[in-house]
Amino acid sequence: MNYLDRSFEIGGVHIDPPLALAPMAEVTDVYYRSLIKELGGVGLVVSEFVSAEGLSRKNDRSHRMLAFSEDERPIAIQIYGGDPDRMDDAAAIVEKKGVDIVDINMGCPVKKIVNSGAGSGMLKDFDKAARVVDRIRRRVKIPVTVKVRKGWESDDVLPLLKRFEEIGVSAIAIHGRTRSEAYTGASDWNYIAQVKSALKIPVWGNGDVKTPADAVRMFETTGVDGVMIGRAALHNPFIFRDVAAFSAGRPVLDEVERRIDAMQRYLSKVDGAPQVEKWKLHKARTLVGWFSRGIPHGKDIRVGLQDITCVGDVQRILDNFRASVAA
Ligand SMILES: Cc1cc2nc3c(=O)[nH]c(=O)nc-3n(C[C@H](O)[C@H](O)[C@H](O)COP(=O)(O)O)c2cc1C
Repeated sequence: MNYLDRSFEIGGVHIDPPLALAPMAEVTDVYYRSLIKELGGVGLVVSEFVSAEGLSRKNDRSHRMLAFSEDERPIAIQIYGGDPDRMDDAAAIVEKKGVDIVDINMGCPVKKIVNSGAGSGMLKDFDKAARVVDRIRRRVKIPVTVKVRKGWESDDVLPLLKRFEEIGVSAIAIHGRTRSEAYTGASDWNYIAQVKSALKIPVWGNGDVKTPADAVRMFETTGVDGVMIGRAALHNPFIFRDVAAFSAGRPVLDEVERRIDAMQRYLSKVDGAPQVEKWKLHKARTLVGWFSRGIPHGKDIRVGLQDITCVGDVQRILDNFRASVAA
């Protein structure tokens, strides 16, 4: 069975292949998402979470986070917030931008976010969570999805998900950890399977897919419609393509050349961004740091990053590295 041959719809938005890039704050911005989309194999990309408060108060930074390119479609923008009025307005702002799907964050475990009733803090009050989602559902015409953890302290989110389904939510993404677990322990794929079998709407399974084999195992053991991958894409941006290859029985080769190519593509995108040099250098350092892990002698690249003053310097480091590998 090739699970990657299956496509599905989220409120009329066609998802093919059934793999998604998970939302990651400070990571899945327009540049990173475009890169992943360009490298191929992903059916949906999700933005980093954007503050509903920021959007509704016309904060520049929050509005800049709504930027996306046409090539990324279908794209979901994720919003978070504890104030129902602002969430409602933020969803309308997202819709007006022409985005395909608005996603609601009910997973973020960070104290500051949770204390304002946002993120996984929503899982402490099911009535409020359902009210917020219901209002957004009525306010916008684009599909509304929700990304949740399996509960606040225990695995009890299912009744809330059933309410979401009744309200008209188009899909759920579930990370199989509680808020209390943050990122410790393991994502509970048994609970993900329970959620999948109890709901009629599509379900994304999420958490601890580190390799192509893991992705196939998640499809197999949970029956989810789609697999959502986060951290593995930080180190291997080709993970989505690799899942397709693995699933079709083709060899998965992680060549140095393709990694260098991915880094250089990303650097070109970042270099062309309307941002200050400091931001560009930060992005370049972070991403090249991640993507160079696992490459033989990749440390040589990371050592070189200490002395850079512009993105061009990083491109040169990579050119030299590529030449030394080829020699
Ligand atoms: C750096 C980082 C930032 C994240 N930011 C978000 C976010 O903005 N919204 C969200 O719903 N989840 C966020 N997450 C959680 C991921 O989307 C995902 O649920 C989690 O990492 C588990 O999946 P994985 O094992 O494939 O990484 C973040 C995770 C990481 C590592």
